[in-house]
Amino acid sequence: MEKRAYIETYGCQMNVNDTEVIFAILARAGYARTEVMEEAQLILANTCSIRDNAEQRIWGRLEVFDQQRKARPGTLVGIVGCMAERLKDKLLDTHKVDLVVGPDAYRSLPRLLEAVTPDRPQMDVLLSREETYADITPVRTDRNGISAFISIMRGCNNVCSYCVVPYTRGAERSRDAHSIVREACDVYARGYKEVTLLGQNVDSYLWKSQDESVNFARLLEMVAAIAPDLRVRFATSHPKDISDEVIYTMAAHPNICRHIHLPVQSGSTRLLEKMRRKYSREWYLERVTKIRSVMPDCGLTTDVIAGFCSETPEDHADTLSLMEEVGFDWAFMFAYSDRPGTLANRTMVDDVPAPEKNRRLNEIIALQNRKSLERYRAQIGKTVEVLVEGPSKRDPAMLCGRASNNMMCVFPAAGRKAGSYAQVTVVDCTSATLICE
Ligand code: SAH
Ligand code: SF4
Ligand code: F3S
Repeated sequence: MEKRAYIETYGCQMNVNDTEVIFAILARAGYARTEVMEEAQLILANTCSIRDNAEQRIWGRLEVFDQQRKARPGTLVGIVGCMAERLKDKLLDTHKVDLVVGPDAYRSLPRLLEAVTPDRPQMDVLLSREETYADITPVRTDRNGISAFISIMRGCNNVCSYCVVPYTRGAERSRDAHSIVREACDVYARGYKEVTLLGQNVDSYLWKSQDESVNFARLLEMVAAIAPDLRVRFATSHPKDISDEVIYTMAAHPNICRHIHLPVQSGSTRLLEKMRRKYSREWYLERVTKIRSVMPDCGLTTDVIAGFCSETPEDHADTLSLMEEVGFDWAFMFAYSDRPGTLANRTMVDDVPAPEKNRRLNEIIALQNRKSLERYRAQIGKTVEVLVEGPSKRDPAMLCGRASNNMMCVFPAAGRKAGSYAQVTVVDCTSATLICE
């Protein structure tokens, strides 16, 4: 009987792509993918450490996996990804996991699976300066066959003081540009119509060979040149690094989607300094002005942290006023979570009390909801091109798909097929969906 592996994925889109790489590696060890935990001989959680609540969720899942392990002896349970890297053998001490594998060690999974026994759990959490899994063709796990994620780099060389990623993912390295283009060509040939290029800081992408040097703008061009009906998206951009060259390259290629995810974190320059973001409020606003002057229709989204160390009511007011001024389409908004080992954890005091953090977060969320509605309303009357993804979740008689600026649209099916492009006119909206005809 063929063995089966079941993987639950938490955290960012990079983890979604890593899970696809893990399935490809597991196939070499004789494991086929299953979506049913109860029939799997191998159960993995690909985990996230970004905030404490992300880890708490995994501890809860581990109990559920452990029941499987007890009910079906021989079933293996493993923790992979960022939490594996952060907690290492502390996870083995729980006696609830057989495998602990960090983000740069997935190639050793077949070897670890050979060696593992119930009383000999296995661990590999070595970080690497080179690993990019460039030669591995991910087993796509998306449901629609239209939109694929492609990792273009791994790790992060920034040291934002609140962030665990540099510790869990290691140093930044860029993947061979030609392997990225090959992977994009391959998914396009299989019917995909959209690729999203992923990295923690895509603007610092830089791949060099003996006679070539490819930066992010050049990579965008190379991928955009594959086919005019292949949409190109990317995330995440860093405000300190997003260059005019990237902005002009987007503008020059209609198939590079008009959307930039540009995490601001805070609107207070004093706090941005403490966060070690290496830009000021003014710098951020200038980048926004530049983007909008070159691409007036560009969608802008962001991440915001409420209640970072020493944040005063004035700092918080600066965040609100920046959000008011920019008018993001939507945002990911978080209460600051102190992470062991980070610079903030070692050198600053997490001194905004939880209730106050949450009060500020709720203010940020309320403001953003109002802004989202404004931004979506401003689209009413416009005709936009959408890439049809499939039936709408709410109303199966309708289809859904994204506009270039990343806003979700719903529209009548009218015989259209998933994977095709449609011109639709916006007639109404909520704060998260454009309703079109
Ligand atoms: N590389 C990206 C973001 C990666 S993490 C960037 O630099 O923008 C995704 C988001 O999680 C961050 O943008 C930040 O808003 C949030 N985040 C990271 N660490 C956090 C922490 N300790 N507490 C709360 N939110 C955090
Ligand atoms: Fe974390 Fe900063 Fe790197 Fe983003 S750029 S992953 S926030 S350290
Ligand atoms: Fe989480 Fe690791 Fe991504 S900490 S956000 S899964 S890089």
